[in-house]
Amino acid sequence: MSSTLFRTKKVEQSILDTEEPEHALKKSLSALDLTVFGVGVIIGTGIFVLTGTVAKNNAGPAVALAFVAAGVACALAALCYAEFASTLPVAGSAYTFSYASLGELPAWIIGWDLVLEFALGTAVVAVGWSGYIQSLMDNAGWEMPAALGSREGAGEFGFDILAAALVLVLTAILVIGMKLSARITSVVVAIKVAVVLTVIIAGAFFIEGKNYDPFIPKAQTVDAGDSLQAPLIQLMFGWAPSNFGVMGIFTAASVVFFAFIGFDVVATAAEETRNPQRDMPRGILGSLLICTTLYVLVSIVVTGMQHYSKLSVDAPLADAFKETGHPWFAGFISFGAAVGLTTVCMILLLGQTRVFFAMSRDGLLPRFFSHVHPRFRTPHRPTILLGVIIAILAGFTPLTELAALVNIGTLFAFVVVAIGVIILRRTRPDLHRSFRTPWVPVIPILSVCASLWLMINLPAETWLRFAVWMVAGFVVYFLYGRSHSRLGRHEGTEPGDVTPSPGRGA
Ligand code: ALA
Repeated sequence: MSSTLFRTKKVEQSILDTEEPEHALKKSLSALDLTVFGVGVIIGTGIFVLTGTVAKNNAGPAVALAFVAAGVACALAALCYAEFASTLPVAGSAYTFSYASLGELPAWIIGWDLVLEFALGTAVVAVGWSGYIQSLMDNAGWEMPAALGSREGAGEFGFDILAAALVLVLTAILVIGMKLSARITSVVVAIKVAVVLTVIIAGAFFIEGKNYDPFIPKAQTVDAGDSLQAPLIQLMFGWAPSNFGVMGIFTAASVVFFAFIGFDVVATAAEETRNPQRDMPRGILGSLLICTTLYVLVSIVVTGMQHYSKLSVDAPLADAFKETGHPWFAGFISFGAAVGLTTVCMILLLGQTRVFFAMSRDGLLPRFFSHVHPRFRTPHRPTILLGVIIAILAGFTPLTELAALVNIGTLFAFVVVAIGVIILRRTRPDLHRSFRTPWVPVIPILSVCASLWLMINLPAETWLRFAVWMVAGFVVYFLYGRSHSRLGRHEGTEPGDVTPSPGRGA
């Protein structure tokens, strides 16, 4: 039994599967497209919304250090992702990578985990987008009826119709085709980067040195209240729950990590890349570097413009400009943020459908979902199904805490990918790797440690929710995936397609 749970899919088989005509995606993306794609999804709710929340509650001006800490963890993970993506240019990201290295059950776990990351991530960003749109509407004197807008903290039943509508429109765009959506993405990314640069350059003129004092506020013990809300590490070591101080920087890092989610999504588009061996590493590392630099600069500027304790939690970047008496800048930033969040939402949705597509092509989910549209060459069935589910989720779901759940799922995927790099080097040393992670196994081990460190800085209740989702995944796998796996069905007739355990060479 354990040999079937850990059966691995040969790398050559993964690549062959992508060449079957009715299951093949169009190869049209370049390194520049991928970088634009990466920046398009990475810069979003994290920097536009979470910066204010964590500066105010956890880190003060040292939120800039939190971005550095989260960026380092992501860079380590990116080095591992880049090797996998350049070796295995097929849809599905960490899911596909782990199928080739760790085995079917770990692959299922990771695929299931990525569904959580992308679906909830899409919903979170859609709700954030709706908030910005409503704020712009307020400026113009229009107000959404309370039941159709779900501002955080409103506490009433409501269906966020704007968030749901955004997801449905984006779903339609993705069904029509990759090329169209990539084109829209580039225009929107340009607007978003212009807004971020405006914050950095214009905001620099309003920095007051006194706002950086203290740069790392002293640790403050907080009322234990519901102890499940404390970071797991504090419960593990029996520490009194606290904010700020050095540990506050790490708590903040585990939250602003959300701002970096997306470079892994670039890897999910490998199959649609013209020259993945060369372009994937460039796309992933390039977009990550650009975003980290921008985040650190934005957070330094914003916490310099306004004292951290006064930052707004809804629209900190725009409100800091309002505070300095420049509402025109604030309006421009709100508009750009709303436009920018559109691409984030779209690309997360795209990543989601591609993981689902890859799992269904392997038979772990019904094969019905892996047929591409005869004209558009897109996986229209999972795109429509997931689009509708996420639209409903986005309509009903409040923002907070969901971001933490998205983070834990993503960090878990990073752990699996890093371990996969080490295993695949041992089991398939012969494979051509156009990008090789430096200092293996040191970098992958550091990546595992950094990801686990951020994970234990997340609230205990996030761990509980994550555990519930993963248990549900096990149930689905044992009731459906294991018996329908395409790899499992080939086992009897084509033993050459299967490497029974990760310990054995091909
Ligand atoms: N990184 C993306 C954001 O910040 C998901 O919204």
